[in-house]
Amino acid sequence: MTTGAYRAVTVTGRGRFEMVERRRHEPPPGQVRIGVEACGVCHTDVLAVEGRRPDPSAPVVPGHEIIGVIEAVGDGVGPAWRVGERVGVGFLGGQDNACDFCRRGDFVNCSDQPRTGTGVDGGYAEVTYARATGLVRIPPDLEAAAGAPLLCAGLTVYNALLSAPARPGSLVAVQGIGGLGHLGVQYARALGHRVVAIARGTGKARLAAELGAHDYIDSTAADPGAALQALGGAAVIVATAASGASMSPLIPGLAPRGQLVVVGAAPDPIQVATTDLIFGGRTVFGSVTGTAIENEDNLRFALEHGVRSHNEVFPLSEAPKAYDRMVSGEARFRAVLDTRE
Ligand SMILES: NC(=O)c1ccc[n+]([C@@H]2O[C@H](COP(=O)([O-])OP(=O)(O)OC[C@H]3O[C@@H](n4cnc5c(N)ncnc54)[C@H](OP(=O)(O)O)[C@@H]3O)[C@@H](O)[C@H]2O)c1
Ligand SMILES: [Zn+2]
Repeated sequence: MTTGAYRAVTVTGRGRFEMVERRRHEPPPGQVRIGVEACGVCHTDVLAVEGRRPDPSAPVVPGHEIIGVIEAVGDGVGPAWRVGERVGVGFLGGQDNACDFCRRGDFVNCSDQPRTGTGVDGGYAEVTYARATGLVRIPPDLEAAAGAPLLCAGLTVYNALLSAPARPGSLVAVQGIGGLGHLGVQYARALGHRVVAIARGTGKARLAAELGAHDYIDSTAADPGAALQALGGAAVIVATAASGASMSPLIPGLAPRGQLVVVGAAPDPIQVATTDLIFGGRTVFGSVTGTAIENEDNLRFALEHGVRSHNEVFPLSEAPKAYDRMVSGEARFRAVLDTRE
């Protein structure tokens, strides 16, 4: 058994990172201790880093795109998970089967599910602890730094695309070509859609085409709703930008019965013209990442179809730099911490 001290990066309040040393302990009942190999840096980490959580003065370790190896198992974990197995942990940190939602099989809405890296410590560390119910089995051929972003960014856009079913060949748009969006383009292409990437400026046009987009809309040069209508109207738009205002002009770009799936979490609201919803029966709805089991299906689909996160990899000591690359929108496309470097 691995023992002793490990390094972790904590945040307290507004943007202050600190590297601390902690000591391993036995995992509590129902949990495992994981030796972290890699952890992606997701835009949702702003909740931890900028203190948008119940007690921002309490230190928390951010990070919820975790791949590692089980070092120890707590009481009651059962035979399903063994020391030495490779596992992943996403944002939803494992259901409590006693809750009312879980009893209905609605694990996503489990009221007791820890939010990894926000409500409980996450993966900006050499070691983390997680509920066994939140563990994702990692295929042996999936390298940790390469695979980590699939556990939140990938799962979120994959589930969003599946929750707004469109026939293969449909026009499907992905807005915001960052960590989520660059994967969204690849999943949409792999699902057989005609894919439109929507981003600000022309800088990402070539990259979007390389990721599989058939068309590109620069939302700073043209009204993206009108541009989508010129292409025939979108059956589905997956909106990933952390801006409500940037999503409002997308809605008139939906085809009749088209669906805007909101996954980007923004401080400002989306504005919707009632007539855009009424005529054509368009819908706007949100989608939250997904469960551990859905994540295993997601990994299988991604590997099968060559969906690959384009990463900038940093050692744990450079967590603040990795976070800055992400939050400034400069990372191409996902910053990942490799704790073994
Ligand atoms: N629903 C869920 O379960 C879930 C899961 C994970 C993340 N999220 C949320 O999804 C969002 C994206 O996360 P991420 O990790 O992909 O972030 P990211 O890597 O920072 O990418 C976000 C992209 O959105 C675009 N964008 C940002 N600000 C914008 C603005 N003001 N107007 C228009 N476009 C803007 C940018 O793309 P362009 O420069 O190409 O326009 C940027 O690359 C965040 O809000 C995050 O919290 C939600
Ligand atoms: Zn995330």
